[in-house]
Amino acid sequence: MEELNINIATAHGPCPVRIAVAGGAVSSISYADGVHVDPHRLLVPSPVDIHVHLRDFEQAHKETVATGSRAALAGGMCAVADMPNTVPPVSDRETFYRRTELFSREAVCDYLVNFCVYDEYSLSQAASVDPFFLKVYLSDTTGSYTLPMELLERVFMLGKPIALHAHFEGMKEAVRLSHKYGTRLHVCHVSTKEEVAFLAEHKTGTITCEATPHHLFLSGDYDVKPPLGTDEDRAALLRALGTTIDIVASDHAPHTEKDKRNGAYGLVGVETLLPVMVTAMLRGELSFEAFYRTVYAGPKALLRAMGYDFGFDVGRRADFAIVETGLRDAVNPARFFSKAKHSPFEGYEVEARVVETWVRGRPFFKDGGITRHAKGEQVARS
Ligand code: DOR
Ligand code: ZN
Ligand code: ZN
Repeated sequence: MEELNINIATAHGPCPVRIAVAGGAVSSISYADGVHVDPHRLLVPSPVDIHVHLRDFEQAHKETVATGSRAALAGGMCAVADMPNTVPPVSDRETFYRRTELFSREAVCDYLVNFCVYDEYSLSQAASVDPFFLKVYLSDTTGSYTLPMELLERVFMLGKPIALHAHFEGMKEAVRLSHKYGTRLHVCHVSTKEEVAFLAEHKTGTITCEATPHHLFLSGDYDVKPPLGTDEDRAALLRALGTTIDIVASDHAPHTEKDKRNGAYGLVGVETLLPVMVTAMLRGELSFEAFYRTVYAGPKALLRAMGYDFGFDVGRRADFAIVETGLRDAVNPARFFSKAKHSPFEGYEVEARVVETWVRGRPFFKDGGITRHAKGEQVARS
């Protein structure tokens, strides 16, 4: 059994607790009365990045499941959900099982695998796989996997949860279809004030959405889809965090330096999500509650609603990151565990860094390195 006396992130701010971990699970949590806790260490429960592109297959030069999952642990993430716009895409049964098998062999953090629907054939295959989400691209992305609009309704008719990458018009149509069929819809990387306003009005219990740290905190030119917005867009996203916006996810999308120079979309995000979000909370750029809801409660509620055993509670899997605070540091891509070393956050000042990541009751990342315990599993259904 392990015992930790530590501040835990709650909706009202850091709270000192005594946590006991045994047999991979949280065995008790109690208020740590009169016990000294380090004011510069914060436990973040069950961090999960539900939007990462770990590449591999024919793009192993950009990232592999091994390097990307190590980056996830170094970023404090206990689990990740992998996007299927790979080469070849995860859009048929055989490739889906090949992808799952690759993760079971190579991943050092826990994982969920998505499936891409972009044509008649992948639509026909989707009925017989059990992915986290069916991913639908309605607008331009890395790879040419855009679904023709006329097939969208048939994807919703399958009744399987859908994650969506779309322009505003496509998103509106997907929301309409989610209402019509009751199909779960997760809207990826909301980035404009118009999208936020629309979702605030039309979101129902089966619809969730996410925002990325880069859309929340950065503006200007960087090759990423959707593009970085205006200061007004950012303000609208920040205001909606924890209410309309359920989840913060990184959209970790590594590329080679050469591909970036040639305009490839995407950034290395899984290692900066927590330091950037914790920093914003400490600086008061977002409330404790917004942090708690979008980094912990939102992802947990989504995974539980989808039938997964996830979230930090007594009797459940002990997943957490420990973040050191009270420091001044700047994001330095040269230090990334990811194979790719590019980030629009380069030089961004942070006041937090991940020092430990525990998965199912064991430290998988500690003292600056991946530990011998680190072995990923698919997040189980409860
Ligand atoms: O910037 C992006 N990169 N947006 C996407 O939609 C895809 C991603 C990638 O896979 O490179
Ligand atoms: Zn996308
Ligand atoms: Zn993406």
